[in-house]
Amino acid sequence: MPRINKTVILALLTVTSSLFLLFQLYYYRLYLSKDGTRNFIDKGSTSSSSAQWNVVKKFLDLVARHHLPVYLIDPVILRLLTSDSLLLKESDPKEQSCKLLCTERKFITFALFAKLWKYDSALAHSAGEYGFELLELRGKDPRLAGMDDLSGMEIPLHFLFRLQSFAVHLVVFYERSGNYLWHGPLRLKSDMDKKFVPFRKLDFGRYAGAYDRPELLLTTLDGLQVHIPKNISRFLDEVTGARFLECRYKEARVFYQQYPYDTSQDAVEFRKKAKALLLLAAETLNSLGVRFWLSSGTCLGWFRQCNIIPYSKDVDLGVWIKDYRSDIIAAFEKAGLPIKHRFGKVEDSLELSFQGTDVKLDIFFFYEEDNYVWNGGTQAKTGKKFKYIFPKFTLCWTELAELKVRVPCETLKYIEANYGKNWYIPLKIWDWKSSPANVQENGIWPLREWDEVIQVY
Ligand SMILES: *[C@@H]1O[C@H](CO)[C@@H](O)[C@H](O)[C@H]1NC(C)=O
Repeated sequence: MPRINKTVILALLTVTSSLFLLFQLYYYRLYLSKDGTRNFIDKGSTSSSSAQWNVVKKFLDLVARHHLPVYLIDPVILRLLTSDSLLLKESDPKEQSCKLLCTERKFITFALFAKLWKYDSALAHSAGEYGFELLELRGKDPRLAGMDDLSGMEIPLHFLFRLQSFAVHLVVFYERSGNYLWHGPLRLKSDMDKKFVPFRKLDFGRYAGAYDRPELLLTTLDGLQVHIPKNISRFLDEVTGARFLECRYKEARVFYQQYPYDTSQDAVEFRKKAKALLLLAAETLNSLGVRFWLSSGTCLGWFRQCNIIPYSKDVDLGVWIKDYRSDIIAAFEKAGLPIKHRFGKVEDSLELSFQGTDVKLDIFFFYEEDNYVWNGGTQAKTGKKFKYIFPKFTLCWTELAELKVRVPCETLKYIEANYGKNWYIPLKIWDWKSSPANVQENGIWPLREWDEVIQVY
């Protein structure tokens, strides 16, 4: 009898604990579904990725409802799309899970093409209906920065749609005068904003950026229709060097108060011709895929006065020697710019000059050393060599004469190296062999090399 009792008690205990376990399991599931993480039919992906998929789906529904022209620019996802192995996996139509849109990260980035979009305050309301918390970050409209009275106008630069622990970062891309796309920096207004999403980790907004307008492609990723840049690797290349510097319009205005804008016929003519030459040079080098930046006087003009210096006699560009291509000369001649001189050689002090209409185009090739960079100069009649030394720099985009062009990001250092601390004061008399602050004599070309390194046409 006592034996049976023991067995019954044991059995009862087992049943009770099993029931308790079941009960716990039930509660656990209830807890999960409250969070919404079980809404997505999960086929092998984690609950976190299905939540992420849901957020993207809701965001895409929302933008479709408001006709927002958006496209995916998330570099991590785009990089995944360029890897073959993933595309192969994706080609199995039976398998529908969140492989591409769901990354380890807590956010995903889209672009909004502002030109095809009209600001609609109903967006904020709909976003709320979809469960999103929406943060809109504004900033000054740089397209008006040149105009004194309009420079205070603010425009939306970034949107953040947050749902649960995920966020969609929507970067607004504006079209600027040179037909390129620009996005503003992301500046937070309050500590509240900082808690909103992991701002430091966002891919866009640390700096302003400039892009060519991409051709788009409508595709299906994880069962959702999204636009993506057609040439993904080209877009990803742009991302790495996209930082954009605004011209210093305020300082330029102060400069012009001190040194009035030259409106003489000669100055007007020169600026016009120099801008046309810059455009032609940019088109030619861009078509070859050769990176260039504004150098010497052209860079100084941009930095100091947001314009071409009217008494300079040429347009000056810098190019890394590693980007040199032997077809540059032929391309310029085809564009109607005959070669005027070729000094130096690819291994040393290369410099090319082309003759435009009354304005000369100088292309200086820059050589990289461990702690500095330099370009060379050659005096045709003596064979003397010169060397111009600059601190190392990286390249940024900017706009000059309605063109998207590059300048050294560390512009002030570059200008000071070249023109000294007094770069601000206009100098009409300038000798390239002695005036620059960074010029050094660099010996003389051996006579036997003159035919090669001093070519004047
Ligand atoms: C994509 O752009 C790169 C330049 O970044 C270019 O070399 C390549 O040919 C382009 N691909 C296509 C398919 O147009």
